[in-house]
Amino acid sequence: MQKRIKAQSLNTLKNKSVYLTIKMAKTKPTINIAFVGHVDHGKSTTIGRLMFDAGAIPQQELDKLKVIAKEHGKAGFEFAYIMDKFKEERERGVTIDLSYQKLITNKYEVTIIDAPGHKDFIKNMITGASQSDAAFLTVAAAEGVQPQTKEHAWLLRTMGVKQIAVLVNKMDTVQWKEDAYKKVVADVSVILKQAGYKTDTMAFIPAAGYLGDNVVNKSNNMPWYKGPTVREQLDLFEPPNKPTSLPLRMPLQDVYEITGIGTVPVGKIETGVMKVGQKVVILPGRSGTGINGEVKTIEMHHEQMPQAEAGDNVGINIRGVGKKDIARGDVVCDASQPASIVQEFIAQVAIISHPTVIAKGYTPVFHIHTAQVPCQFVELIEKQSPDGTKASNPDFLKNGDLAKVRIRPIGNLVLETQATNPNMSRFAVRDAGATVAAGVCLEITSKK
Ligand code: GTP
Ligand code: MG
Repeated sequence: MQKRIKAQSLNTLKNKSVYLTIKMAKTKPTINIAFVGHVDHGKSTTIGRLMFDAGAIPQQELDKLKVIAKEHGKAGFEFAYIMDKFKEERERGVTIDLSYQKLITNKYEVTIIDAPGHKDFIKNMITGASQSDAAFLTVAAAEGVQPQTKEHAWLLRTMGVKQIAVLVNKMDTVQWKEDAYKKVVADVSVILKQAGYKTDTMAFIPAAGYLGDNVVNKSNNMPWYKGPTVREQLDLFEPPNKPTSLPLRMPLQDVYEITGIGTVPVGKIETGVMKVGQKVVILPGRSGTGINGEVKTIEMHHEQMPQAEAGDNVGINIRGVGKKDIARGDVVCDASQPASIVQEFIAQVAIISHPTVIAKGYTPVFHIHTAQVPCQFVELIEKQSPDGTKASNPDFLKNGDLAKVRIRPIGNLVLETQATNPNMSRFAVRDAGATVAAGVCLEITSKK
C-alpha cells in the first residue's frame, strides 16, 4: 500500500513537472530576430557561434563542419555552415536564402533569422525583414558602412522592424581598438538616423563572431566595453506587441509537398490567430479570386499545435488545397474577414536610390509581405523634397523625395492600408537589382 501511494505521488509529481515545463515553454513569448547587413560581415558566423556557445550545437557537429569547410577551400566558414546548408552556399561561402534557428532564452522563444547580405539575394533579405520583430545590423569593424548596410537599414525601417541593435563584428581585425569601434558607431548612427531610427538608447555591440567575443561569453579583449553581449541583447529587445486582435493574415513564404501529409504552406502569421478547424481563404491564389479551405494541422518547430498566433512561423496543412493552387505571395486569411485584392492604391513612398528620376508610367517590382508584383506609378500626387519644399502633381520624383503616389498593380495583389493592418501595408520597390523606394499603403480601391 505504502509503495503504491509513493509510486502514485511520484507519478503525479512527474506529470506535474512535465505539465509545468510544457506550460512554461508555451507561456514564453516568441520573438523573431534577424541578422542583416552587408555581405561577408559575419552574420551567419555570429549566429553559428551563438548557437554553439549556447550549447545548441555539439562539438562533433562543429568539427565535422570544419572538415567540410576546409574541403571546399573555405576554412573559417564552419560557424557559417551551421546556417548555410545549401551546396552552392557552402561552395561560394555566401548565404543565398533565409535560414532559421530556434533558441530558448530566459525571456523568449527566439527564432533567429539569418538573412543574406549579397545584393543579388536582397529579395530574400526583404522577406526575412518582413518576418522580424527586431534585428542586428551587422557591420564589420574594418570595412564599416557599406552599400547594403545602408540599404538594409532602410529596408528594416520600411518593413516595420522597430527595434535594432548594431553588431560591430570582426573586432579582432582592428586589434580590439575602441577608436575603431567608435568610428563605426558614429557612421552607422548617421545612416540609421536617416532611415528614421533613434540611436541614443540603441545597443552597439563590439564582437568577434568567429572567435566568440561578446557573443555568449564576455570578451576579455575589450575591457572598455560595458554593454550587453549578443545573447544578452536578445532578452533586451522588447516583446513584440502581438496584433492578435486583427483578422488572420499569413503571407505564404513557400509551399511544400510532403509525402504522407500533402500540401504544406509555410510562413509567418502577421496578424490574428489561426486555429485547427478554422475556415480560411487563400488570396489571390492561382485562380485570382481566392481558394477556400479549412486548417487541418498547424506545426511550429516540428511540433503540432492546436493554434498559433501573430508572430509565429508555422507550417500548416489545409484541407482542400493543392500545391498548384497556391504560391509564395498568397495570403491565408480568415474566411469571415478576408483581405481585399487591390485594383489601385495610394501610398506614401520614400525614394531611396534611383539612377535618374521616377515619372508617371514607371513600372518596377513591388515587394509586399512575401509577394513580388510589378506595379505602375499612375499618378504623382504630391512630393516633399529633402530641403522641405513641397509640390503638387510633380513631373518626377528623385532620390530623397517623400511622395504621395497612386499605384496600380499589374496582376493580383493582397495589400491593406496602414490604418486597417499595418503589418500588411508596407512595401519595398526594386528595379534592376537595387531598392529604389520604400513605402506604406494609405488607401485602397478593391477589385470587384
Ligand atoms: P553573407 O551571408 O554571404 O552576407 O555573409 P555573412 O555576413 O553571413 O558572413 P559569414 O558569416 O559567411 O562570414 C564571412 C567571413 O567572415 C568568413 O570567412 C568568416 O570566417 C569571417 N568572419 C566572421 N566573423 C569574423 C570575426 O569575428 N573575425 C574575423 N576575423 N573573421 C570573421
Ligand atoms: Mg551569411
